[in-house]
Amino acid sequence: MPTTPDPQSVSDRAAAFTHGADVYARVRPSYPSEAVEWLVPAPSSRVLDLAAGTGLLTRGLVDAGHEVVAIDPAAAMLAELEAELPDVQALHGSAEDIPLPDASVDAVVVGHAWHWFDEPRATAEIARVLRPGGTLGLCWNDRDERIDWVRRFGQIVHTGDRLHARVTARPATPDLGTAFGRPESAEFRWLHHLPTSRLRDLAGTRSFLLTLADDEREALLGRVDDLVVTHPDLAGAEVAMPYVTVAYRARRH
Ligand SMILES: C[S@@+](CC[C@H](N)C(=O)[O-])C[C@H]1O[C@@H](n2cnc3c(N)ncnc32)[C@H](O)[C@@H]1O
Repeated sequence: MPTTPDPQSVSDRAAAFTHGADVYARVRPSYPSEAVEWLVPAPSSRVLDLAAGTGLLTRGLVDAGHEVVAIDPAAAMLAELEAELPDVQALHGSAEDIPLPDASVDAVVVGHAWHWFDEPRATAEIARVLRPGGTLGLCWNDRDERIDWVRRFGQIVHTGDRLHARVTARPATPDLGTAFGRPESAEFRWLHHLPTSRLRDLAGTRSFLLTLADDEREALLGRVDDLVVTHPDLAGAEVAMPYVTVAYRARRH
């Protein structure tokens, strides 16, 4: 990432995860097991977790019995994954240049990262490494903003974020080109428990905040602190952040 990243640049935002990987691993949500099972149907298989980050989705795939190879361009994120999941093969790479042979995996999953990819190039690369009949699964963890404090938290952390619409756009049907069948979709509602005092850290792991100038980031984090001390639903030591895991899966022809 450049020394002065641009918060409105897709490439700078995608590269921002080189910072704060340790905090990311501790406060960002994982994925419910029902979603993991839906994304990669049994039997167990060799799965590529693409943009694996610190391994929050990788862990679920391993627990479901799959053999996983994890790929990400951010060395700091992969270092967290390797510390947490030493038996998983972790490779440096990107969705546009996947360091695996043709037809070498049964499934590819992408957790909360598809929006950073060059979609036509990534789709072609994923189709190359997937065996015919294999599945591509995409998922995102969206905050359930029907809850007042969650909506306010979202308003704060995206103040001035002109890429917010791109990052949160969930197409009715992702365009995966001709190599894949029509995608199916599903949603899974669940709660992520974390200490209320860590809502500030959670906010700080967003790519938007990672790329802001220090004073601008501190201003937004100060507003998160204010929310925590003033909102009646945040008076307890622990908070349950409601998430909707939005998932898509498609079969490679
Ligand atoms: C929000 S994190 C998601 C990480 C993990 N999948 C999870 O669910 O916690 C986005 C990840 O996408 C990675 N990333 C960004 N651009 C990428 C690209 N072109 N190809 C592969 N990974 C990319 C980042 O390094 C980062 O680890």
